Amino acid sequence: RAKRPAGAPDKKLARRIGKVGVVGAGLMASQFALLFLRRLQVPVVITDIDQARVDKGLDYIRGEIATLLGKGRISQDESNRLNALLTGTTDRSLFADCDWVIEAVFEELGVKQQVFGEIERIVSPEAILATNTSSLSVEQIGAGLEHPERLVGFHFFNPVAVMPLIEVVKTPFTNDETLATAMATAAKLKKNAVITRDTPGFVVNRILAKVLGEAMHAVDTGTPFSVVDDAVKPFGLPMTPFVLLELVGLKVGAHVLDTHHSAFPERFFRSESLHELADLGRIYERDGKGGIKGVDKQALAIV
Ligand code: 3HC
Repeated sequence: RAKRPAGAPDKKLARRIGKVGVVGAGLMASQFALLFLRRLQVPVVITDIDQARVDKGLDYIRGEIATLLGKGRISQDESNRLNALLTGTTDRSLFADCDWVIEAVFEELGVKQQVFGEIERIVSPEAILATNTSSLSVEQIGAGLEHPERLVGFHFFNPVAVMPLIEVVKTPFTNDETLATAMATAAKLKKNAVITRDTPGFVVNRILAKVLGEAMHAVDTGTPFSVVDDAVKPFGLPMTPFVLLELVGLKVGAHVLDTHHSAFPERFFRSESLHELADLGRIYERDGKGGIKGVDKQALAIV
């Protein structure tokens, strides 16, 4: 018999998910919206604050469906079905009959609290609410909820299609039905799930913040980007610190470091220059074939 993951409640408590709502149509949200579509084969509604963002998310998802078809991973029938199950809108009232609504909006506590406050008024009292926050407190995100017992952290990793883990974050309020549904959903998405405490960075980002923070600190104190990355390469990490920072997004990276520094000022660095780099959006110049040409001149000028 398969072992029940540590802290997981009885699987029988899991609720059926017949429709999924996704708040935010950015890259992370679009990546997991596709995963929900593909693995659950249920209607998925993506939303954002304006139609241009929604359309960008829809284009990404449709493009990935076309790629899967091109690679022979899905049939023409499945491709048609997935496209038909996908809706994009700015109108959150379409969440009314969703059983699971997950958000990946801007990493700011007030924004997430407001989003969930609005969503709770739209969805049924049984619907489960999930947040993909990287390092905010899930309990605080749900502070204004009438039913905080239905809120759970459901933290994906970049690139969602490939990374095998989901951190399921339990708050003191999360009830067993919610937790069981989150675990069952992760299994349907074919991901490994671990249940983590609601503590800054959960498990993975807490460790990553150490590595990325030290890497930025080395740069901030005079070691060039490429020297840090080249020095780390032989240790067998799939990506060096700054390539990874570019993958997760420099804004998200800067935010993760800030959250850790605020919680544990003696243990974690924050980096002002990472914030400035985030406005630039990149560290390395690319050669157009996925290779690195060199450190971006503006990035060099910032630190
Ligand atoms: N989207 C979809 N599929 C992708 C992808 C993407 N962005 N990137 C890679 N893939 C797929 C490729 O299509 C390929 O699939 P195929 O074999 O079916 O064609 C497969 O992944 C392997 O791709 P590559 O040959 O390019 O693989 P690499 O060996 O270079 O590995 C990698 C790519 C898996 C991204 C690897 O470099 C890696 O594991 N990097 C570390 C990523 C990581 O640590 N992520 C966690 C970041 S932290 C985070 O997200 C949390 C947040 O809160 C900050």
